Amino acid sequence: EIIDGGGRVLLPGFVDLHTHLREPGREDTETIESGSAAAALGGYTAVFAMANTSPVADSAVVTDHVYRRGQEVGLVDVHPVGAVTVGLKGEKLAEMGMMAAGPGRVRIFSDDGVCVADPLLMRRALEYSASLGVVIAQHAEEPRLTRGAVAHEGPEAARLGLTGWPRAAEEAIVARDALLARDAGARVHICHASTAGTVELLQWAKGQGIAITAEVTPHHLLLDDSRLQTYDAVNRVNPPLREASDVAALRKALRDGVIDCVATDHAPHAEQDKCCEFAAARPGMLGLETALAIVAQVSVETGDLSWRDVARVMSEKPAQIARLDDQGRPIGVGEPANLTLVDPDLGWTVRADELASRSRNTPFAELSFKAKPVLTVLRGRVTARDGVAAQPGTGVRA
Ligand code: DOR
Ligand code: ZN
Ligand code: ZN
Repeated sequence: EIIDGGGRVLLPGFVDLHTHLREPGREDTETIESGSAAAALGGYTAVFAMANTSPVADSAVVTDHVYRRGQEVGLVDVHPVGAVTVGLKGEKLAEMGMMAAGPGRVRIFSDDGVCVADPLLMRRALEYSASLGVVIAQHAEEPRLTRGAVAHEGPEAARLGLTGWPRAAEEAIVARDALLARDAGARVHICHASTAGTVELLQWAKGQGIAITAEVTPHHLLLDDSRLQTYDAVNRVNPPLREASDVAALRKALRDGVIDCVATDHAPHAEQDKCCEFAAARPGMLGLETALAIVAQVSVETGDLSWRDVARVMSEKPAQIARLDDQGRPIGVGEPANLTLVDPDLGWTVRADELASRSRNTPFAELSFKAKPVLTVLRGRVTARDGVAAQPGTGVRA
C-alpha cells in the first residue's frame, strides 16, 4: 500500500517511558488492550507499563505476563516496568535479575506508585541495577514531606485550603539519587520532573557527568495550579500541577535538552475515584491520546522546538534511555518501520467520551489543538488510522 503523506509530518513511532495500564488488577479502568489502542491512536509504537498493578509487577511472573498480553494484542510494544521492591512500599529488593532475563526483558525498574523512601534501599537498588545494565526510573517523592498533600504548596493551595506538596519533596530525592547513582555507577531516570529547582539540579548533575536523565509530562508542560480554582478532581495528580514559573522552566529545559524527553504518566482512574472531593480523589490523568497535540502546541507552535526535535523528545531519547535497539534509530531501506504520521494543522477538540481509554479522567476535555497523529505504523503494519485503532490481535508481534 502506498500512503500519501502530503502536507503531514513523518516521525519515528513514539516511545512512552511511563504508562499505567492497570492490568492486572484494575481492568475496569484500563486493560492492556484498551491502553494499547489509546497508545496507537496517540502515535506510540512502544509503551512502558508501570509496575504499580495489583499484584505489583515485582516478579517475572507478572512482568512476563504483561509482555505476553501486549504481544497478543499487537497494537503497540508493551514493555513491562519492574518494581524496585517486593510489594508497595516494600522493604526488600525485588529479583530484578529474573525480570531482566525473562521473555519480558525488563529494562526499566521503578518505584513509581510503589514509593521507596529508604535511601539505603535505593542505594542498593541502584547498585543492583548498575550490575544488570538497566535503569531506575525514580518517582521522586519524599513521602515524609507529602503526607496529606494534595496540591502544590503555594499561594493557590493556601487560598483554596488544600494541603501543600512542597517542591522540596521532589528536589530532595532528585539530589539524593543523583549522588547515589554517581556513587553506584548507575543510571537514574527522573520521572515527571515538575519544578524549576529540579531543572537546576538536573543541569548540575549532568554537568558533573552523572548518568541522569529526565522526563516531563504533557500536563506539567501545559497546566499550572491556577486550574485548581474549580476544585475539579480531574486536576489532582502526583506530582501536582505547579506554578506558571515552573511550567516556563520545564518548557525551556525540554528545549535545551536538560530534560531529555516527554512521557505521559497516563494514569486511568474510575469515575467514582475522580468524582469526589479534590482531597479524596485519586491522583492521575490520562495522557496517551493527547500527548502529541500538547507537545506541538507548547513547543512547535511557540517556536521552541522543530519537528525534528519532537522526534528526539518523543522517540529517540526515550528509546535510548530504555536501550531499545529497535526504536528511534534510522531505518534501512526496505526494513519494516515504526512510524507516526502527524497532521500539524488538523484542528480538533478533545472529547472525553471519544477516547479509546476505558477511563475518562482527562483534564484536556473540550480543549482544542491543531496537531494530531493520523496514522501509526508498527513494523510495517497500520495500528491506527484517522482516529480508529486496528483490531487487537491483527497487529504484528516482535
Ligand atoms: O498521579 C499519579 N498517578 N502519580 C503516580 O505516581 C501514580 C499514578 C497512578 O498510578 O495513578
Ligand atoms: Zn510517579
Ligand atoms: Zn506514574
